[in-house]
Amino acid sequence: MTMFSDTHTAQAKAILAANDRGGYTVPTHGLYPFQWNWDSAFVAMGFATFDIDRALRELERLAEGQWADGMIPQIIFHTPADSYFPGPEVWGTRHIIATSGITQPPVFASALKFIAERADVSFEPRIRALFAVADRYHRWFASARDPEATGLVSTLHNWETGRDNSPEWDIPFARVPETTTTVIRRRDTGHVDASMRPTDADYRRYIHLVDLYRSLDWNPAAMLAKTPFRVADIGTNAILLAAEEALLALQPRFGASNSEADIRARILRLSRGLSGLWNADHGWYLSRDLLASAPIAVRTSAGLLPLLTNVPDRAHVAHMSGVVDAHLDAVCMGIASTLPGEPGFEPKRYWRGPVWAIINWMIAEGLGRHGHPALAERVRKSTAEAIERRGFGEYFDPTTGEALGGATFSWTAAILLMLRDQ
Ligand code: DGY
Repeated sequence: MTMFSDTHTAQAKAILAANDRGGYTVPTHGLYPFQWNWDSAFVAMGFATFDIDRALRELERLAEGQWADGMIPQIIFHTPADSYFPGPEVWGTRHIIATSGITQPPVFASALKFIAERADVSFEPRIRALFAVADRYHRWFASARDPEATGLVSTLHNWETGRDNSPEWDIPFARVPETTTTVIRRRDTGHVDASMRPTDADYRRYIHLVDLYRSLDWNPAAMLAKTPFRVADIGTNAILLAAEEALLALQPRFGASNSEADIRARILRLSRGLSGLWNADHGWYLSRDLLASAPIAVRTSAGLLPLLTNVPDRAHVAHMSGVVDAHLDAVCMGIASTLPGEPGFEPKRYWRGPVWAIINWMIAEGLGRHGHPALAERVRKSTAEAIERRGFGEYFDPTTGEALGGATFSWTAAILLMLRDQ
């Protein structure tokens, strides 16, 4: 490691320390003042590169928000803050610590495996307890979001995908009315330029869905029955399957003896579902509009996340790696959230084009796993260099490399630590 990268890893650790609110880490000051589900999973992996105790604490604080039915919410409102909308009063959920009422991509078990691989035996009891949390969370996905055992879990709000305004959602989201019973008071555009954020019309629809689900008391069956927005998100389905595979790897050491058969059954089902999302016409894994029974024809970086799993066959991997190779030649930092040239691509607007370090890290892991170490290294290198040259932004413009969105971002800091640790 060079002196240069030593300085940056010290900066990354300082960002995690500054965003620490007592065992959990806010994504960034002001814009996101609470604990977010998938942010914390990446942050936990970042901590695991130098502090296992703190890494486990991050997941334990997230687990405090787990609902009785097993769901781990998207946001845990540990302490009040008025710099974010919608706050707990809009969600109106009943959990003892206020939370939102929806989930996010379940990176939790994969983070637990990452930590366990670096932890000594003294941490085993804590890892065992967190294994049980992850197992309940995955059971919730199966029962609440795939009650018919199709092999694909449903996502019912853009915020659950983590890729809020991806062009993938343009058509299904257009079915959501813009009417709300909640008065919308956006706070995000007070922190970040509106040109880098979702639009006001997007927000009216986001809140319409929150109003609807709150009126259904967050009951999973009622939400599935009444929602105007139901997709099989390629990101969530790939991340869940990868997390199930992580859970299976942890099971012999940390799981209850009767959990193995269930995990294997879920893996089989999810693998069948995920392989059905390969689209031969587009040569890509695509999300699916479940209400229209139609693939969503937009190639995004999330379409590469099945590489995290055993599902892609050699021909699919060869095709995707060819596209990644060409893409890396064309942009200054790979991989754009929406590939340039796809409908709806905007290089600066949140998930409509910008590059996200967490997605790059997962893609690199997947490329390495599927026999493309050199390509994986190119993705890692361009990501680390962009962070070191441009700063710890929330996301990056693929055409200029400019850091965008919130600054001193926790998961970007965590990814740099993970990249420099490899
Ligand atoms: C937001 O509020 O911007 C988040 O993406 C919700 O998780």
